Amino acid sequence: MNTEFIKKRISVRTYKEQKIPDEILEKVKSFLQNDTGLFNIPITFTILDAIKSGVKSPVIIGADTYIAGKYKKQKNADISFGYAFEKLVLYATSLGLGTVWLAATIDRKSFEKAIDLKEDEVMPAVTPIGYAADKRSLRESMMRKGLKSETRVPFDQLFFKDNFDKPLYKEESGIWALPLELVRLAPSATNKQPWRAVVEKDKVHFYEKKTKGYASEDTGDIQKVDLGIALCHFEIAAQESGLEGQLIQKNPGLSVAEDMDYIATYQLEVK
Ligand SMILES: Cc1cc2nc3c(=O)[nH]c(=O)nc-3n(C[C@H](O)[C@H](O)[C@H](O)COP(=O)(O)O)c2cc1C
Repeated sequence: MNTEFIKKRISVRTYKEQKIPDEILEKVKSFLQNDTGLFNIPITFTILDAIKSGVKSPVIIGADTYIAGKYKKQKNADISFGYAFEKLVLYATSLGLGTVWLAATIDRKSFEKAIDLKEDEVMPAVTPIGYAADKRSLRESMMRKGLKSETRVPFDQLFFKDNFDKPLYKEESGIWALPLELVRLAPSATNKQPWRAVVEKDKVHFYEKKTKGYASEDTGDIQKVDLGIALCHFEIAAQESGLEGQLIQKNPGLSVAEDMDYIATYQLEVK
């Protein structure tokens, strides 16, 4: 995977009536068999025929195929879900397929039934896959406006150096410039962009800036899912920049606001 597809990805809610060729669907299927989760937490995916399985979303037009993902309830599973599902989204983008993360605007019961969701499992989100229509539906255009989907929070309001008091400007962020910029471009639920990061020498600590109402029994903590997406983008960009490091969980104990949860740290390899 490379950063080209992170830059190319955009939510698609209006699809062409064009069947996905079998060989492309086969590629998606074999991709989904890889274990792409984080912290050894597996995520499983199901490809659904919209008509046969009776699944739908009120904001989607024209898609006849969906992919749903789920995990067994456990610590960090929502982060792993975001990380794995975004890898799928980027892979689909590389195949020329449109996607959109859907957590709220779906007929959740029908999806959960179609994938036979068990008591101890959570299905945070699904995506349609297919070919983007030439023109967005009016509803989609209005949604994008309402969510300000074309914009992102400025770099120095998301990222900090050493502690949360000092903003980090892109020009001074050195090796972290590309990985952090690609975190900034990530999709998030209602475009809230809850990721924050503090750079400390050879480490980058990630935090979730929590907003009330994004965590529930049904979906898990959807903003932790957003953080998984951020970690996915960060790692892909770090790899492309030639950095060698890994994602670990070791809370540095920085002083943080009450609405902030520590998520993970990217640590450069010590040579
Ligand atoms: C976890 C998650 C859940 C989302 N849920 C929905 C949803 O229920 N309905 C919807 O139309 N878009 C949903 N979105 C898409 C976001 O609104 C979209 O990513 C954001 O507005 C930025 O636009 P972009 O993806 O085109 O860059 C979701 C995105 C994420 C990451």
